[in-house]
Amino acid sequence: MRSPSYLCAQNRIKLSTVKPYQDQDSSKRTQVESMFDSIAFKYDFLNTLLSGGIDNYWRKKAIEQLSHLEDNSKVLDVATGTGVLSIKAAKRFFKLNFIGVDISQKMLDFAANRIQKLQLEKQISLKNMDSCKLEFPENSLDCVMVAFGVRNFENLDQGLKEMHRVLKKGEKIIILEFTMPRKSPIKQIYHFYFKNILPVIGKLYSKDPRAYQYLFESVQQFPDYERFTQVLQKNGFANCSFESLSFGVCCLYIGYKS
Ligand SMILES: C[S@@+](CC[C@H](N)C(=O)[O-])C[C@H]1O[C@@H](n2cnc3c(N)ncnc32)[C@H](O)[C@@H]1O
Repeated sequence: MRSPSYLCAQNRIKLSTVKPYQDQDSSKRTQVESMFDSIAFKYDFLNTLLSGGIDNYWRKKAIEQLSHLEDNSKVLDVATGTGVLSIKAAKRFFKLNFIGVDISQKMLDFAANRIQKLQLEKQISLKNMDSCKLEFPENSLDCVMVAFGVRNFENLDQGLKEMHRVLKKGEKIIILEFTMPRKSPIKQIYHFYFKNILPVIGKLYSKDPRAYQYLFESVQQFPDYERFTQVLQKNGFANCSFESLSFGVCCLYIGYKS
């Protein structure tokens, strides 16, 4: 099957070709898994350092979107990583249940550790699972959320189709993803920071020379704003919308299973 090519203004490139280690032949999925395994120990620290802590505000905006859910609803947190989104959501909505899935076992280990320390095991469960092959029945979950994960999928369409499949009819998908600001002078300043400064700090602390270079490259080539809402629509979601956050550095996308 041919890979989809969502084109951004500057680059005509297939998403699956934007890989962490371009010089290696292995699949994007394998490379992403091994990259997150290797930076897991510094992931949360670097998140806060590189975003100046604004990532907490972005996650809070996403979590607000859960307020309509009834007690005991099941929320799937795809690409949960170290579990930060589920943990914050579980503390805010203590009658909701969360299932965090990820392909990086090291990230999941950090999540499990933290969940145990916070005694949230009854509310949050974790599984090693690929977004492209979700082991849940059709129409079984009350909400699906993904924070900074979709850009890393080997096959974006398949991941979105799977999330659509497991979601109950009429229910919501909540997605946070990085975007590039569109307005000057923030656009130029952020581009310089993201391209030149962030990868150097990331390399220094994570010890992975490519991880934060890949972050820049993958964000450049990912469909953003209305382009991503079109991708959501194409994969079955309706009433899709987006909210640009923090001068366009991040975007909150919402869609519904019709
Ligand atoms: C940038 S981290 C985001 C983690 C977390 N959601 C957060 O907000 O900090 C991206 C995560 O996506 C996971 N990931 C990438 N591709 C995936 C896939 N196909 N299925 C499940 N998880 C995936 C990675 O292993 C990584 O933990």
